[in-house]
Amino acid sequence: METAASLRNEFYLSRQSDRESNARSYPRRFPLALKTAKGCTVTDVEGRSYLDCLAGAGTLALGHNHPEVIAILKDVLSSGLPLHTLDLTTPVKDGFVSALFDTLPEGLRREAKIQFCSPSGSDAVEAAIKLAKTATGRTDIVAFTGAYHGMSQGSLSLMGSLGPKAAVGQLVPGTHFFPYPYSYRCPFGRGGEETAKLAGDYFERALKDPEGGINRPAAVILEAVQGEGGVIPAPVEWLRKVRAVTAELGIPLILDEVQSGVGRTGSFYAFERAGIVPDIVVLSKAIGGGLPLAVVVYRSGLDVWKPGAHAGTFRGNQLAMAAGQKTFDIIARDGLVARAAEAGERLRGHLEAIAHRSAYVGEVRGAGLMLGIEVIDPLGCRDSAGRLPASTEAAGAVQAEAFRQGLILETGGRFGSVLRLLPPLIISNAEIDRVADILASAFDRLERKAA
Ligand SMILES: Cc1ncc(COP(=O)(O)O)c(C=O)c1O
Repeated sequence: METAASLRNEFYLSRQSDRESNARSYPRRFPLALKTAKGCTVTDVEGRSYLDCLAGAGTLALGHNHPEVIAILKDVLSSGLPLHTLDLTTPVKDGFVSALFDTLPEGLRREAKIQFCSPSGSDAVEAAIKLAKTATGRTDIVAFTGAYHGMSQGSLSLMGSLGPKAAVGQLVPGTHFFPYPYSYRCPFGRGGEETAKLAGDYFERALKDPEGGINRPAAVILEAVQGEGGVIPAPVEWLRKVRAVTAELGIPLILDEVQSGVGRTGSFYAFERAGIVPDIVVLSKAIGGGLPLAVVVYRSGLDVWKPGAHAGTFRGNQLAMAAGQKTFDIIARDGLVARAAEAGERLRGHLEAIAHRSAYVGEVRGAGLMLGIEVIDPLGCRDSAGRLPASTEAAGAVQAEAFRQGLILETGGRFGSVLRLLPPLIISNAEIDRVADILASAFDRLERKAA
C-alpha cells in the first residue's frame, strides 16, 4: 500500500543506507528510488524523470523495457520452458548461440566455441583467463594501464585503478601491466600519434626481449575502447600491432567486449574497427537484453579444458537468452549499429561545441555512443607534457548539476575526471540534443561559479 512516506525518495534511500552494504556505489551519486522506466527515461517514486545515459552501465542497448523484449519475455514465461537449466540445452539456448555466432567476424565464427559463465562480466573474464592458462600451460597475464575487467579477485588483478585493489592486498601473481595508448595523458610524456607507436613498439620489444623479465604470457587481455578507465579508444594501428605480436608469439589475445560490444561503438564489436580477429572474446552486459548473462567465445583450438573446468549454477538463464536473441534481431533489423555511429557523431558534435566554450574540458573522445569528456582544472599547473591536471571536483560538480537537471551520467577515468555517456542505442536526436543542453548548462554554471 502506498503511504505518503513511500512516495518519497528519501524514505527508500534512508532504508537503503541503513540496510545495504557500505560498498554500494551508484546511489551515492544518484540519490533516487526508481519506479518506472521506458526507453532512455527513468522515473523515480516522486514522479521526476531523468534521461538515462548510464543505462545499466552500458547494458541497455535497446533502452529500458523495450516492448518487443518484454513481449518475448512474456512468451517464454508462459511457454512452460524451465527457467533454470544449469548448462543443459534448450531451443531458446540453441537460438541464442546461433544469433550470437552470426555477429562474430568470419575468422572467429568458422571455429567458434562458447562457454556460458556465471552471469557477470567478471566471471567471464575469469573463465577466459583460466581457458588461456589451460590451453597454453603458461601462468602470466598481460593487461594494460587503465584497464577494467571486473571485481572478482582474478579480474581485479587485471585492473589498472589501484583504489579497489588497495584493501585486498596481493592479488593474482604474474600479472604485468603495459602502457595503454592514452594519448591525452601519454604514458611516455609525448602524445598525439606518437603514443600509439611508442606503446606498440614497447609492447613488442618487451615481450621479445629474452632479458625483459616477463615470462611468455598465457594471454594478453585488453579493451578496444577502455570504458571505466576513461573512455579511451585504442588507435587502430596499436590494436593491429598487439594482434600481430601476439599471433607471432603464440599468445592468445583476449578482447574484453563486455562494455564496448553489441553495437555500442558504431561497430558490433569495438575490435572490428581495426579489422583484427581475437582468439577469445568476453561478453556480458548487452548480450542478455538487460538480463544477466555472460559468455566467453573462443577459437576451438583452445578448447582443451576438462569437463566442468568452469562450472557454475546460474549459467542457463533462459529469459536472458531469449531477450538477448531478440536484442540481436532488433539491432540487425533496425540498423542500430549504424545508428549508434550516427547518433554518436551528433552527440560528439555537441560535446565538442561545449569543449570549445569551456576551459574545463580537456578532451572529448570515444567511439559511437561510448563517449567521454575529460574534465580539467584550468587553473592548475601544467605537467611536463603541457597538460592541465584532471579535476575530480569539476567533473563531480557537472555530474551533480546534470542530475539536478534530469540527466544521469557516470564518471570514470583517472581521478574520476571523465564524464561518461553510455546512452541506449535507440536514443533519439531530440534526446541527444536535450542531453547536450543539460551538459552545456552544467558547464556554464561551473564557469560562472569560477568567475
Ligand atoms: C570492460 C569490462 N569488463 C568487465 C566488466 C565486469 O563486468 P561485471 O560488472 O558484470 O562483473 C566490466 C564492467 O563494467 C567492464 O566494463
